[in-house]
Amino acid sequence: MLLVKIGFVDKNKEKFYITTPLYYVNDVPHIGSAYTTIACDCIARYKRLRGFDVCFLTGTDEHGQKIFKSAKAQNKSPQEHCDFITGEFQKLWKLLNIEYDKFSRTTSTKHTHLVQEFFKRVYDNGDIYEGEYTGLYCEACEDFKSEKELLEGNLCPVHKQRAQDYEEKNYFFALSKYQDKLIQFLSSTPDFIQPEFRKNEVMGWIKEGLKDFPISRRSVSWGIPIPNHSGQTIYVWFDALLGYISGLIDDSNEPTIAEGIKSYWPASIHVIGKDILRFHAVYWPCMLMSASLPLPKKVFGHGFLTKDGEKMGKTTGNVIDPYELINTYSTDAIRFFFMREITFGKDGDYTKENFLNRVNSDLANNLGNLLNRTLNLVNKNFNGEINGDPSKDLLQLKSKFDSTINLYSKHMDNLEIKEALDSLWQLIDSTNKAFNDIAPWKLLKSGDIETTKCCLYETLIILRNISILTYPFIPETSVKIYKQLGYDKLDKYSEWERLGFNSLGKNIKVTVGSPVFPRLENKT
Ligand code: MSP
Repeated sequence: MLLVKIGFVDKNKEKFYITTPLYYVNDVPHIGSAYTTIACDCIARYKRLRGFDVCFLTGTDEHGQKIFKSAKAQNKSPQEHCDFITGEFQKLWKLLNIEYDKFSRTTSTKHTHLVQEFFKRVYDNGDIYEGEYTGLYCEACEDFKSEKELLEGNLCPVHKQRAQDYEEKNYFFALSKYQDKLIQFLSSTPDFIQPEFRKNEVMGWIKEGLKDFPISRRSVSWGIPIPNHSGQTIYVWFDALLGYISGLIDDSNEPTIAEGIKSYWPASIHVIGKDILRFHAVYWPCMLMSASLPLPKKVFGHGFLTKDGEKMGKTTGNVIDPYELINTYSTDAIRFFFMREITFGKDGDYTKENFLNRVNSDLANNLGNLLNRTLNLVNKNFNGEINGDPSKDLLQLKSKFDSTINLYSKHMDNLEIKEALDSLWQLIDSTNKAFNDIAPWKLLKSGDIETTKCCLYETLIILRNISILTYPFIPETSVKIYKQLGYDKLDKYSEWERLGFNSLGKNIKVTVGSPVFPRLENKT
């Protein structure tokens, strides 16, 4: 039988470059950074399955006063501190099964070279000038703030820290010069900012008028020195954003911008939290325009996570600790919950009750039980092997199956991750229902072996497809299912080719292992 090919793209044909933000190393990773990284990993895994040539970059943002102070508080040198925290990020990504291709660090030598080259380019283009800044600065955001943006007592609305008075003679970037060009770019690239509703916010900022901003600091020593000007370092945001390009350079290659943009640049998508939208959707495109470099294709600003309906904060003590979640439950449970429960782009809430309910009902019950019941029946009554004919479609699920694959792909292509999973779980629900209605265990008792086989065979076909489609989200579980169904190895680059309502293949023998997803208990 012919395999149904659904939009398969040859490897090397189309590149897909996805980035997480480069995380500050003032502290160990928190659930916010884990959330962005999990989402990017799911998208990257999906794109790999679809045959794209994927580059997934994550990394750390290691300069600035905030990090300098954290190092001091730990009695460490800034570099020692950065190395330690970066190691913690890498460890967490391993625990969360994050398969990144590049890890970008802003304290790397190649990054320093590249930022200095970039500074010179922008300078030579006449977009950097000396000026004096008087205003307010939030160190936690590493951002200049107007009084209008702050709460009473000049408190930063995001970090609830007091913004400091700031007066310095600096180098400025002529952002205002790019106002019209940015408007032009945004109107000719309508899907640059996603989700759609975030665009209004950006248009609002632009309408207020883009202001030039300082890109150097006199009082900050922990940073990249301004080329040929002693005593000043480059402002962290004018440094960190370049990490999306420097991180692409192999250590053995020339650390130049030309080298950085040669393979995967421009980014297909920068995934970020909504709090850093201005830097990515306003500053970054203008900086790149000034340096005559290609602009990224998309910036996606996701929402914020809350816990029990409240904003998380260290001072309030209500943070979700990613390590605790992993140790108590499992990596797949965490990956699944955040992707399945929260509309990607909107704010979302974590409660332990929702977490347990969602994971138990979707994974342990709906998927896990369907798999177990099917495998047990096939194993016990047919010695693990069954032959059948997919065209019989006893469960009458073929058209539902086809539409699910189309919906799933459409949603994933639009970064509607939750919706993609919704469509998949609707198929799982329908399969459970059809399976219960046909009740193969009753058919067996009545001696109707042929209909029993038909039912089990079709369920196995659907389960095989589900194991492939769940791979981006719950890779460990998905591979276990695939193996229990009798297949060797799920090929993360090309398994998409084998999707389809088609025969299981020859000599496929299922095995009944331990439940792939045991029910989670409420552990406190
Ligand atoms: N260093 C900058 C990014 C530079 S990119 C060139 C930075 N780092 S960060 O560590 O503070 O933030 C990283 C990401 O975590 C941001 O995208 C931010 O939105 C996200 N989150 C922080 N708290 C969050 C939640 N409570 N919920 C979801 N994401 C949140 O900003």
